[in-house]
Amino acid sequence: MRKKIVAGNWKMNNTLSEGVQLAKDVNKILTEKAPNCTVILGTPFIHLADVVRSVDNKLIKVSAENCADKEKGAYTGEVSAAMVKSTGAEYVILGHSERRAYYGETDAILKEKVDLALANNLKVIFCIGEVLEQREAGKQNEVVKAQVENALFHLSAEQFANIVLAYEPVWAIGTGKTATSAQAQEIHAFIRGVLAAKYGKQVADDTTILYGGSCKASNAKELFAQPDVDGGLIGGASLKAPDFYGIIEAFN
Ligand code: PGA
Repeated sequence: MRKKIVAGNWKMNNTLSEGVQLAKDVNKILTEKAPNCTVILGTPFIHLADVVRSVDNKLIKVSAENCADKEKGAYTGEVSAAMVKSTGAEYVILGHSERRAYYGETDAILKEKVDLALANNLKVIFCIGEVLEQREAGKQNEVVKAQVENALFHLSAEQFANIVLAYEPVWAIGTGKTATSAQAQEIHAFIRGVLAAKYGKQVADDTTILYGGSCKASNAKELFAQPDVDGGLIGGASLKAPDFYGIIEAFN
């Protein structure tokens, strides 16, 4: 059975002490009320090592929000997959729409990042999703299919076991507009079909596909009840421990 996951994506929020406090707050709640899913905190690079040390690794896994597309060397300001791994983080979020839109990350760049992450034994939370114009033109399926094919379909089935997909319609990120549970289910099922056609039914059935985009405690239960929605990637609502727990609790 595929994993159910609730993953936070703090984005560019929290100073070091604020981030460590938030991680401790989430850890405290989960110590008292054990989660029914894998919980991941996606944090800026500067928090990773301290957050790893501040939480119970059995309750909370830690993820970077990005890594470099180069292995090592003269790339001032970049952070490699090996460096991320050395903090104790186990995951890296790649292909977030903000990285694609604001930092020019193309499918070709993301392919390099995915390969380096996997080579360094990180699991990848790979984000895909269409912008509003594409949804309005009915092109969402072809957009997400191309994103998956271009950055991931060179992987072997064995490697693909380390990939979690996150479908995040760009028009729903940080906007308060959530995809309906029916819209989410429809495209998640489509994505699983794309995986089945390439890797077979078993791999497709074993792949966790998260929904992201204005997911919060009030809509998580309905979204996660859809057969092909295996949890969420949470931005805004991951910045306060009780809000984040409200989403984790959707699996109880
Ligand atoms: P949001 O962000 O929950 O604030 O909409 C989700 C994401 O970008 O991962």
